[in-house]
Amino acid sequence: MLKVETVSKQFETGAGTLPILDGVSFSKGPGEALCIMGPSGSGKSTLLHILGTLEPPTSGEVTLDGRDPFQLPEPELATFRNHEIGFVFQEHFLLPQCSVLENVLTPTLVGEGSGAHETRARELLDRVGLGERLDHRPAELSGGERQRAALARALVLKPRLVLCDEPTGNLDAAAAGAVADLLLELHAAEQAILIVVTHSAALAERFEDRRRLAQGRLEAE
Ligand SMILES: Nc1ncnc2c1ncn2[C@@H]1O[C@H](COP(=O)(O)OP(=O)(O)OP(=O)(O)O)[C@@H](O)[C@H]1O
Ligand SMILES: [Mg+2]
Repeated sequence: MLKVETVSKQFETGAGTLPILDGVSFSKGPGEALCIMGPSGSGKSTLLHILGTLEPPTSGEVTLDGRDPFQLPEPELATFRNHEIGFVFQEHFLLPQCSVLENVLTPTLVGEGSGAHETRARELLDRVGLGERLDHRPAELSGGERQRAALARALVLKPRLVLCDEPTGNLDAAAAGAVADLLLELHAAEQAILIVVTHSAALAERFEDRRRLAQGRLEAE
């Protein structure tokens, strides 16, 4: 269970304190999903970064199955992040010098490697329709294919929490629809907690629980 309790975030800037999030609370269990919309600059990515333990909240608490990751010392926090959380960003951040298969395996390189990881990576790449593209470099893929490779990479360690920031950004309607189908199919199969941030009405429509971030607060749509 992901519990977010009255999370607030302010940035200290040269021009003073910039309030971004103002008491965001929600909780989600395994197999549940939340879609977050809201204007540019409203703090959606900031919230995802906090959920992903990349940035601490100014106040409030985030717990995953009762554990507050921000209480962990840095090496354990990194392990927690790597194992429990899968990220899909708008920018895919695939390593250009590595093959598709190697990219999907990057989260598994920390800690003990295992043949099981490679089996899982190959299965996921099959699921996302890239089973025939294992040895391609990212530059040899289309935008939608890169996004699908990034999705496979996010899921390779079976994270309990999957965070997607504009997973269909920069894609045409058909490619965006295919990535959305896949995301929801994999979500149904793997029962992670899924949090998606998007400006796309077409993607948002696919979620039952849609909320809007505005003035630092998360409101039902
Ligand atoms: N490290 C930082 N220091 C200062 N201000 C920041 C920092 N990170 C983000 N901000 C500010 O916080 C606000 C929210 O940014 P955020 O990236 O969360 O918006 P967003 O809702 O994801 O927008 P978009 O839809 O354009 O991606 C912006 O005004 C941004 O300038
Ligand atoms: Mg953003």
